Amino acid sequence: MSERERTFVMVKPDGVKRGLIGEIVSRFEQRGLKLVAGKFIEIPRDLAEEHYGEHREKDFFEGLVEFITSGPVFAMVWEGQDATRQVRSMVGETDPAESPAGTIRGDLGLDLGRNVVHASDHEDPGSNEREIDLFFDEEELIDYERPDEAWLY
Ligand code: PPS
Repeated sequence: MSERERTFVMVKPDGVKRGLIGEIVSRFEQRGLKLVAGKFIEIPRDLAEEHYGEHREKDFFEGLVEFITSGPVFAMVWEGQDATRQVRSMVGETDPAESPAGTIRGDLGLDLGRNVVHASDHEDPGSNEREIDLFFDEEELIDYERPDEAWLY
């Protein structure tokens, strides 16, 4: 477990268009994770292809890139103890139908493609750092203290 790990999360176009940004941000805040960066963007195609590059050979790749570039996303960096694993457990499985109630995808996801959020993979060490670097410049990551940090760390 790592102290103060940072991890990448984004609300996908389906989540944005369904008005779920606030609900999703709220879940991470309530869990005690700390928001260190956030931006509302339309992902350029080349960035989408790089972000999902490991899936280039999969038959869903083209649809996935089309979908993630089909509207704005809300990209974020969250910090906390073991943040990547914590966030993934809150997000649930790739397929919302396989995600337990109480997880973001189990409660809010529609199907395999429209599954509301993306989060760095805790089973792929370094994916959090890579994705943060891809979407954010160093100066966009804000360092500040929360009054409840003594409890969080
Ligand atoms: S794999 O094959 O297990 O490595 O893929 P997985 O991690 O389950 O999914 C990788 C991302 O692709 C999305 N995905 C799909 N999109 C559209 N259609 C289909 N059939 C499909 N299957 C997988 C899935 O939501 C993952 O996106 P992210 O943003 O990483 O959650």
